[in-house]
Amino acid sequence: MTSEQQGTGKVALVTGAAGGIGRAAAERLARSGWKVVAVDRDVAALNWAGGDANILAHVADITAMDANLGMVALAEDWGGGLDAMILNAAIPLGGGIDEVSMEALERAMAVNFYGPVMGIKASLPALRKRGGGSIVVTASMHGIVGEAENWAYVSTKHAVVGMVKSLARDHGWEGIRINAVCPGLTRGTGMTRDIEAHASEIYANLAATVPLQRWAEPDEMAAAIEFLVSPAASFINGVALPVDGGTGAGSGMRPPLKGR
Ligand SMILES: NC(=O)c1ccc[n+]([C@@H]2O[C@H](COP(=O)([O-])OP(=O)(O)OC[C@H]3O[C@@H](n4cnc5c(N)ncnc54)[C@H](O)[C@@H]3O)[C@@H](O)[C@H]2O)c1
Repeated sequence: MTSEQQGTGKVALVTGAAGGIGRAAAERLARSGWKVVAVDRDVAALNWAGGDANILAHVADITAMDANLGMVALAEDWGGGLDAMILNAAIPLGGGIDEVSMEALERAMAVNFYGPVMGIKASLPALRKRGGGSIVVTASMHGIVGEAENWAYVSTKHAVVGMVKSLARDHGWEGIRINAVCPGLTRGTGMTRDIEAHASEIYANLAATVPLQRWAEPDEMAAAIEFLVSPAASFINGVALPVDGGTGAGSGMRPPLKGR
């Protein structure tokens, strides 16, 4: 039995855990008995994690290899090992080809793609020491389909999905499963705060493109992440799991009409 199959004493690391989906994943895993290292570069926003003995807040920028090695070492020192690595931190980057500078693209690639690459490199030795484990990268429905005026972000997320599918084939033999979760529109996050606060018409119009006719809650993404790292997903490896209310199941040519 690998440590992933045992019920308690498991240790997870979640990046981008100051708010939104990462915070919801850290809180959900802690409620389920995991010890969780909650990592973010945003010191102030990580304060929420202070009161829970099963959560250790750690400030780090995931774009540096040393920072990735350091957070894994911290998980091993504090938690006694590492069973699940949840690579969730990312930044948005909208605009057409003429609007996105090469510097901005490099920054988005550094956070959204190289960050998870380094997180996987850093965590594999620790997962091996436990006899196996699970890695989940938060991609996006835009890791599967394209979107107008969003090519740069979309490209970083397609890179993530390609990496996940390929590395899943490299490391399954050693009991390490690697999957991506692909959120659709999720409210209550740093990425969506401006639309929610200042653009109620856009917010409602976007909800209308989702067959379920609403935005997701961060905890609905956290539930998928918890599932993927749990023994219930023990034969799931190399998937890019859409959690998008059905949005990506169609072409978008004929938006859902009933229920509006
Ligand atoms: N909210 C959505 O609708 C949506 C949809 C699809 C995919 N996603 C993905 O979900 C994930 C979580 O995003 P969210 O929606 O919760 O937004 P969010 O902005 O609340 O969370 C992202 C977190 O990553 C952190 N971060 C950014 N750069 C970092 C760095 N270099 N080092 C450490 N931390 C860093 C931010 O401080 C922030 O707390 C992201 O990968 C995002 O691309 C979100």
